[in-house]
Amino acid sequence: MVEQMRSLAAEVGEAVRAALSAVVSPELASEDPLVRRSEHADYQANVALSLAKRLGRNPRELATALREELTGRPWIASVEVSGPGFLNVTLSGPALLGRLAARYEDARLGVPLSQAGQTAVIDYSGPNVAKEMHVGHLRSTLIGDALARTLSFLGARVVRQNHVGDWGTQFGMLIQYLFEHPEAAWRDKEVRQEGEGSRTGGAVSALDALYRAARREFDADPAFKERAQRRVVALQSGDEETVGAWREIVAESEGAFQQIYERLGVLLTRDDVLGESFYNPWLHEVVDELRDKGVLEDSEGAKAVFFEDILGPEDRPVPLLVQKSDGGFGYAATDLATIRHSIREFGGTRLIYVVDARQSQHFAMIFRTARRAGWLTDGIEAVHAANGTINGPDGRPFKTRSGGTVRLADLLDDALNRAREVIAEKDPDLSRDELESVAHFAAVGAVKYAELSTSRTKDYSFDVTRMLSFNGQTGVYLQYTHTRIASILRKAEAAGLGRGRFGTGDAGPALEPEEHALGLALDEFGATLDAVAVALEPHQLAGYLYGLARAFTAFYESCPVLREDVAPEIRDNRLALCDLTRATLAQGLDLLGIAALERM
Ligand code: ARG
Repeated sequence: MVEQMRSLAAEVGEAVRAALSAVVSPELASEDPLVRRSEHADYQANVALSLAKRLGRNPRELATALREELTGRPWIASVEVSGPGFLNVTLSGPALLGRLAARYEDARLGVPLSQAGQTAVIDYSGPNVAKEMHVGHLRSTLIGDALARTLSFLGARVVRQNHVGDWGTQFGMLIQYLFEHPEAAWRDKEVRQEGEGSRTGGAVSALDALYRAARREFDADPAFKERAQRRVVALQSGDEETVGAWREIVAESEGAFQQIYERLGVLLTRDDVLGESFYNPWLHEVVDELRDKGVLEDSEGAKAVFFEDILGPEDRPVPLLVQKSDGGFGYAATDLATIRHSIREFGGTRLIYVVDARQSQHFAMIFRTARRAGWLTDGIEAVHAANGTINGPDGRPFKTRSGGTVRLADLLDDALNRAREVIAEKDPDLSRDELESVAHFAAVGAVKYAELSTSRTKDYSFDVTRMLSFNGQTGVYLQYTHTRIASILRKAEAAGLGRGRFGTGDAGPALEPEEHALGLALDEFGATLDAVAVALEPHQLAGYLYGLARAFTAFYESCPVLREDVAPEIRDNRLALCDLTRATLAQGLDLLGIAALERM
């Protein structure tokens, strides 16, 4: 077996490919061996079935030939042919233990740096200034953060980008209103009270109220509308007083966003913000470059890019509007400047946009325009890692009772209140401070796990009761499993039994089926992370950790660890299984941004 720490499943696949090459033809050396975990053995390889059809051979006969070729390797205990031509492969206990021992000794749990050399620019969260950060931004924030953590653990250089909506004509209206109604200023005490009752976001709530008031006047009073439009011009031409007011609004909003990130334990900091305003000075240059390269077309006075196959109503091509006929720029121009910057300045090799699925046409057009402009080349991948929406517990679009958007801070408060209840019930001995701290991490973990265990493209319902259940696929179940193992290890430590050691070679104990199964699950960690990195789907990791926790529970139910009648070498081996499971869970939870607790 090669020393490189791939998964044993990958080793099995490699061996099957070598066998195919030997018994059929070397041309099959890169065939997908179709290896899966199986109920009948450790792994099942289905390639003989799929291939036999293509080769016009009898599948069982082909499987039998492969079986003969595979048999005799010391690390494979048995290969059986079953059914119409499945290959059932079971690994030898010592080989499995040897692999686990190597993972246990390694600080990275044997996970290779598979993304080394990549620079991933991850655009996520992207809330809008002067508007409440709402539940819609939660998905992007949590998925993006999990991807940033995972790709970075796998060795990529990760550039986090928070493309905050901090520029645009709406600021003219806001600033003008603020100047005309100083009493309604967001810093005013009375307005601020709207945000009370929540630990975060008082200021943005006030800004939100200001936004609504300004919008009302803008829509109702043509004279105000005109003054607001003049204010936009003042902002764009750098008028000091106007820019000062804009800066204050932005700073206030960003402070509130930062509070949410801190509460969620999200990696984003102020240094990661390059908002729309940052790109504003470059928009003319970007448009000139696109024009010089012949990418832009004239469309009723505006400048746009067209694509033969991106069609709208009546099969008319949908334009990517780069510059409006009045000379103004919008979201598209800014995103073109952004992608150019990510490639030229950050040296991004993989540009990942974690943004709502409703923007997929926008990103398809941005990527293709960037390709036409020659910014996006073959060595660089641009992906829209699209996310679905979050619904209310009733499965319908999430609205407050009065029909407004649901504030993120309020949802987090709901989760925290529920977490306090369930934790206090589970562990009445916790002190007040402990309860507060555990409830906080459980609530954040529950919200994150509910998000990250759902395929990112699917919609899901935000349901605090379900997400804080100790049974089932939840963050608290995983955190609780971690605390159980931590407690076993503490007891072992106190009894002077140490942290455990895998018995390898001849010293290795025979494994119970549950130990063997847990070992196989532990071995899959790195391969799971690689799959997340390829598909940009953190739910594969979330699902893996749940499977791992279940495998541990099954093991612990049938294999006593600390009981006195357990022989020392078996106990050491089981303690090592406990500790490696704990370490793998802790690492995996950390990559999802979930705290692994010592006690709860
Ligand atoms: N502010 C945008 C919104 O709320 C999201 C920004 C996404 N990132 C980007 N580069 N366009 O919809």
